[in-house]
Amino acid sequence: MTGPVLAVDQGTSGTKALVVHPERGVLGTGFAPVHPRALPGGRVEVDPGELYDSVVAAGRAALAEAGEPVVAVGLANQGETVLAWDPATGAPLTDALVWQDRRAASICAELDAQARELTRITGLPVDPYFAAPKMAWIRRHLTGAGVVTTSDAWLVHRLTGAFVTDAATAGRTGLLDLDTLAWSETALDAYGLGGERMPRVVDADTPVGTTTAFGPPLPLTGLLVDQQAALLAQDVTAPGSAKCTYGTGAFLLAQTGSAPRRSDTGLVACVAWRLAGRTAYCLDGQVYTAASAVRWLTGLGVIAGPEELDPVGGAVPDAGGVTFVPALAGLAAPWWRGDVRGAVTGLGLDTGPGHLVRALCEGIAAQVTELAGAAAADLGAPLTTLRVDGGLTRSTLLMQTQADLLQRPVEVSALPDATALGVAAVARLGHEPGLAVHEAVPDWKPSAAYEPQVSADEAAERLGRFRTAVARLLADREGSG
Ligand code: G3P
Repeated sequence: MTGPVLAVDQGTSGTKALVVHPERGVLGTGFAPVHPRALPGGRVEVDPGELYDSVVAAGRAALAEAGEPVVAVGLANQGETVLAWDPATGAPLTDALVWQDRRAASICAELDAQARELTRITGLPVDPYFAAPKMAWIRRHLTGAGVVTTSDAWLVHRLTGAFVTDAATAGRTGLLDLDTLAWSETALDAYGLGGERMPRVVDADTPVGTTTAFGPPLPLTGLLVDQQAALLAQDVTAPGSAKCTYGTGAFLLAQTGSAPRRSDTGLVACVAWRLAGRTAYCLDGQVYTAASAVRWLTGLGVIAGPEELDPVGGAVPDAGGVTFVPALAGLAAPWWRGDVRGAVTGLGLDTGPGHLVRALCEGIAAQVTELAGAAAADLGAPLTTLRVDGGLTRSTLLMQTQADLLQRPVEVSALPDATALGVAAVARLGHEPGLAVHEAVPDWKPSAAYEPQVSADEAAERLGRFRTAVARLLADREGSG
């Protein structure tokens, strides 16, 4: 019998670590915050040293709480956060540009003529959300020195000395050929990154080296980008099934199976994971601001925090005619309009905090519904299941609104830390070659299930209002541009 693993989830606002035993479950947890800085011009940066220190601190705290040794380590990462660093010393040469950073929008605009071709090769739209435009921005400002990579490659190098990235993280760059899973020379050249030293692309369950960062030497045997790790943990392995994580943003991923499938609807086509040489693919759509929109409402004093969504929103029967498009950091899939900003319409003298809360929940749920609809259109059939996780799933109001607008049941994960549990499964697979994927993934047990409580007509009408509001925002931008 194998022992527990240490699973580390390095996220946007902190690092969570779990010690996970295959039979006894979670034995210890640790958390260390990180502090990204939102700067003028849509810039969002974080000190790479803080990322690394948080990995070590959270990992050590989880191990201390567990009080027993682990056999291996897994690391999940933010995906599209990038930095330059010196491969000789491991020292960072820049701050990390966080996935939310929009400074590379002008680089994307320059690539307009090649965008269609780049999307065909990589499965990804040309948008500053992804790693490549931000890497190109760094390279223009730091000629020649060091390497420019996603944050996982740097963290793994600091931990073990290896220079690698897993196929799913590489698939979030805009530089990976979706068919061959090799770096695309065409894409590298287009972004001005031809000739760059790129990390070796490995399977998620590849033992990549040994780390002493957590105390005794431990093999690092699992690497996976965070949303895909949450997909795995929720056992979303059958084509047509999907998950949505409601965190800083909301991220919907639909499993598409063992062959790459491009999107015709504006979703991202990418790698779910490559495990033991077998690749699974997924379609992916994003709502950039979910919990961060709730934080915004909190900052205005409308509510004291996310725990007030239900009591404040529940005090009124509906949104009172208010529509909220929560595009506070732009619109991602399927619109890809980072330049658009959010809107609240239909305000009256009688509008109160409850109406705003309901309108926000409706706006987030409507955007997720649009993503689910886009995935269904690409797949040619409605999604079979939607499993959900993340902090905002604690809001009954949001989850009921989601089921109502989607007109399908929503199953809430009982796993509060799906991402870490997903990478724990990967680390186990790396440590025990021969173990089947389903043997490493936790059994799926929802903590709650929400059934639609409104008619299809009412759902369509409410979605229609949201679509009209989005269309008006897009038209306004055209008018002002
Ligand atoms: O694409 C970015 C996303 O994966 C980050 O997730 O949990 O770090 O906010 P999180």
